[in-house]
Amino acid sequence: MKISALDLKKQIEPLRQELDAGIKEVIDNTSFILGSGVDKFERHVVEYSGAQYAIGVSNGTDAISLSLLALGIEPNDGVICPAFTYYATAGAAANIGARPVFADIDEDTYNISLKSIETVLAKKNKFKIKAIIPVHLYGACADMDGVLRLARKHKIKVVEDTAQAFGAEYKGKKAGTLGDCGAVSFYPGKNLGAFGDAGLILTNNKTLAEKLRVLRNQGNKDKYYHTVLGRNNRMDTIQAVVLDIKLRYLDLWNSSRQEVAQYYNKNLAGLNVKLPVVPVYSTHIYHQYVLRTSVSNKLFMNYLQEKGIDSRVFYPVPLHLQKCFKYLGYKAGDFPQAEKAAKQTFTLPIYPELTKEEKDYIIQTVKEFIHG
Ligand SMILES: Cc1ncc(COP(=O)(O)O)c(C=O)c1O
Repeated sequence: MKISALDLKKQIEPLRQELDAGIKEVIDNTSFILGSGVDKFERHVVEYSGAQYAIGVSNGTDAISLSLLALGIEPNDGVICPAFTYYATAGAAANIGARPVFADIDEDTYNISLKSIETVLAKKNKFKIKAIIPVHLYGACADMDGVLRLARKHKIKVVEDTAQAFGAEYKGKKAGTLGDCGAVSFYPGKNLGAFGDAGLILTNNKTLAEKLRVLRNQGNKDKYYHTVLGRNNRMDTIQAVVLDIKLRYLDLWNSSRQEVAQYYNKNLAGLNVKLPVVPVYSTHIYHQYVLRTSVSNKLFMNYLQEKGIDSRVFYPVPLHLQKCFKYLGYKAGDFPQAEKAAKQTFTLPIYPELTKEEKDYIIQTVKEFIHG
């Protein structure tokens, strides 16, 4: 049996008519960037998330960079990021000239460790730390009370990287609505995916929202009058229309993912493999279902791949050991939990459309590997 990590065709098929009609309308209107389609989607995201403002942008990476810029982060300001996340979390900070300052992750949740943040903040840092980017990795929230407490104490800004957790809840509030800004990615493979690149920023701060709208659109509030150095980070109308249709199904898809995860949990319990941990303060929307093995994840993944199951590792190299961040001066051993997670974790396919037969085959194959 062949089971891919993701099957977007199966997700799109039942919505095909709605999506085709929505896209046709954009073409008929020949309004392709921002405009009423984006305004409408932003309004619906405000309703969905409970945030006061939603600003549609070009992608999740730009959502982080713009948030940092709007919060006044300048070149050579330090920005704390977890060492174990997708490149873009730190890349978005580095690309505006800020200095990523890494912290380790928690062994159970894979999210940023409060203890490690405290260690970083207690050190004499070469660069003044001005912001932190907690990432809600794989779909469960970071310990936001802890992060916000430390941020308040040290007067630093908080940008939640919500790229993998749109719709997840932290103590009843939607991920991305707790910090100064929440950056969302609608990369096609995300739980709410566009038909190309798209992203969004959530905030409860009116001044920030106004700044972000100007920054995303070449720094002009009125066309051809540029008040600040802005960027071209606008959202395409087609993406907004597609996302607006898909948003109606998001809760249903997220709960289907949770059902798949529960099925895996039930059937893999008691085996020599660590199941995902859901922290008490958060729901988990399982953007990824991640297992941990005490043997090498490569061996496990190779076996699953041989049996036709598309298993991956997110991520094989922690950020402090990536070539592009060599200039930051980190070395192997600096963040032991991040390094261990990179060697021991791997995913099982998880999406709402997986059939019972496919799930059972995956479970059976995991058991075969463990039992030799
Ligand atoms: C944790 C994390 N941060 C940031 C991003 C960047 O989002 P995008 O690909 O939309 O730029 C992604 C997604 O790829 C992500 O997974």
